[in-house]
Amino acid sequence: MKYKNYMRYNNNISLILLTFEFLRKILGGDRFNNLIGYIEKEVVLIKKKIGKKINLLDYGCGKLDFTLFLKKKKLINKAICVDNYELKYKKLPLNVKYMNLSNSKMTFKKNYFNLAIIIDVLHHIGINNLEKKLKTICKISEYVIIKDHFEFNYLSRQLLRLADWFGNYGTEVNIPKKYFTEEKWYRLIKKSKLKQIKIIKNVIQHKGLFSLILPSKHQFISIIRK
Ligand SMILES: C[S@@+](CC[C@H](N)C(=O)[O-])C[C@H]1O[C@@H](n2cnc3c(N)ncnc32)[C@H](O)[C@@H]1O
Repeated sequence: MKYKNYMRYNNNISLILLTFEFLRKILGGDRFNNLIGYIEKEVVLIKKKIGKKINLLDYGCGKLDFTLFLKKKKLINKAICVDNYELKYKKLPLNVKYMNLSNSKMTFKKNYFNLAIIIDVLHHIGINNLEKKLKTICKISEYVIIKDHFEFNYLSRQLLRLADWFGNYGTEVNIPKKYFTEEKWYRLIKKSKLKQIKIIKNVIQHKGLFSLILPSKHQFISIIRK
């Protein structure tokens, strides 16, 4: 591609991404700002229970928004954020590291972390292949906070897919074919022999028009403890 065409292509993509971000904000789809209150509250409770500084694993960290917020609030001390892309041009705060899982494996010892967060990641990995992965994460971390979606029927599945497409537009994140039902979620917990100490249902992830299309019954947060 000629340089001029390449620049025009990049400008067009940036414009589309900005438009999507703007639409998300005004239509109530500001996912991070709607979710962070729930996550912050659970991290505060876990920090109190643990009674020491938090060493966090952010599994499928994306743009690291949740970790950076928790670090800024001084709720965590150290963090390792993992995902499967190359993190470029991002200056990270002291004690926050990024690891690209496409190049390296997680080889942390048992209980290396006292908290792991897995926010809207599991359905992208594929709900049927999670037992081993979840067990590994729960082995290296004392507590795990998982945020994910519930589907209820064919229509709600397609709405979740549409929201996932809209929310992840411009990234290489794959759009899942299926999501957890409540039954499948509990089956996974049982099969993986994990102890769920709390589940928050009806998490308000969307407001405004978005909440009419995808009501809060589709969102849940689960807290797992060894
Ligand atoms: C919807 S984004 C969520 C990002 C972040 N957790 C957040 O809430 O802002 C899903 C993320 O999961 C990551 N992901 C998908 N499959 C993964 C895998 N097998 N291992 C690690 N990360 C994965 C994607 O690259 C993407 O960044």
